[in-house]
Amino acid sequence: MLQAPFFDPKKTYEQNWEQGPFNGFADGVVLPVGKPRFDFLGQKISYPLGIPAGPLLNGKFVKAALDKGFDVPVHKTVRSRVRECNEWPNVLGAQITGDLTIEMAQHPIIVSNEYKEPLSITNSFGNPSYKPDVWMKDLKESVAYAKSGQLVMCSFEGTKWEGFSARDYINDWVQGAQMIKDAGVKIVETNFSCPNEGATQLLCFDVPKTRLVADSIKNKIGDTPLVIKIAYLEEKELRELVKETGKIVDGYSAINSIPAPVINPDGTQALPGAHRVKSGVCGHAGKWAGLDMTRRLKSLREEFGLKYGIIGCGGVTVTSDFKEYREAGADVVMTATGAMWNPYLAKEIKNAYPDA
Ligand SMILES: Cc1cc2nc3c(=O)[nH]c(=O)nc-3n(C[C@H](O)[C@H](O)[C@H](O)COP(=O)(O)O)c2cc1C
Repeated sequence: MLQAPFFDPKKTYEQNWEQGPFNGFADGVVLPVGKPRFDFLGQKISYPLGIPAGPLLNGKFVKAALDKGFDVPVHKTVRSRVRECNEWPNVLGAQITGDLTIEMAQHPIIVSNEYKEPLSITNSFGNPSYKPDVWMKDLKESVAYAKSGQLVMCSFEGTKWEGFSARDYINDWVQGAQMIKDAGVKIVETNFSCPNEGATQLLCFDVPKTRLVADSIKNKIGDTPLVIKIAYLEEKELRELVKETGKIVDGYSAINSIPAPVINPDGTQALPGAHRVKSGVCGHAGKWAGLDMTRRLKSLREEFGLKYGIIGCGGVTVTSDFKEYREAGADVVMTATGAMWNPYLAKEIKNAYPDA
């Protein structure tokens, strides 16, 4: 059953940042952490479950996730300079029954402030960021807060700031990844798949550029594992991406949300702003896509004789979804939407599948 969410969609991003997390995530209950039994990219974790980059806005949210047994929380994507959030609203319920196929996502999806099971939502923040001083302090504290068997990750997105050359842009990615490493994070994630960047094509669709950026980052951060977050890719595109980057990166996280036009029940544009006709849809309706990507990443890993780790996410809202992802080949499973509306989802999953 849906509970009150730990991110309050009725409040702005800044209000959530300052006052959150809310409801069950803020009840003060600290769940015990099991022994570190699983290995993920050289790190020992107690259970292969986490929250992907997004709902954990800052250190308070990351700490609450650790307390509630999400042993691999990822701090929301940050940037190298301050960036404002898209105008409110940033989260709305999406009325979708069944799967949101790529074909269906070409047509408008009705969104509103109603949240129903099976839960799907749209989110549109534009990857805002506080000053690096602020998020680095937060990150250091969250890393220190993690108990044995818990692993705090953080996601970064490079930006073509005004006046930047192509080289500056790549350097922005490189410096940002290094800042995350400097904050003590043991596995760095980069967001190559933000669906809310307006007309800009997702980086992960541009294989040569993805390869160049990933390679530049790896040259800088050395042995620290690099996970790249990717969108849903068709057969040929994913094969090409893995062929070109599978020896450079240490892991893939899939999927980000699925972009679709979003409208109010009366047919008008739901989110204010010319660049917000489309918005990322996540939750239950994207589960098929996350599972499909996980299966293909696993089989491509075997085919090419590679070793990368796989983070499977998209639509994990009930315990059996976790199992489906594990069976599909996810080394770590993550849930954003599901965890937001159920603070005890990690506990339920661990009880249902003690051996994962
Ligand atoms: C509120 C919210 C904010 C998000 N922000 C980010 C982000 O900053 N970076 C990112 O890589 N993905 C972001 N995402 C996408 C999630 O990491 C995830 O890929 C997607 O929601 C699918 O998982 P789910 O179905 O469990 O929600 C966000 C998702 C939500 C719900």
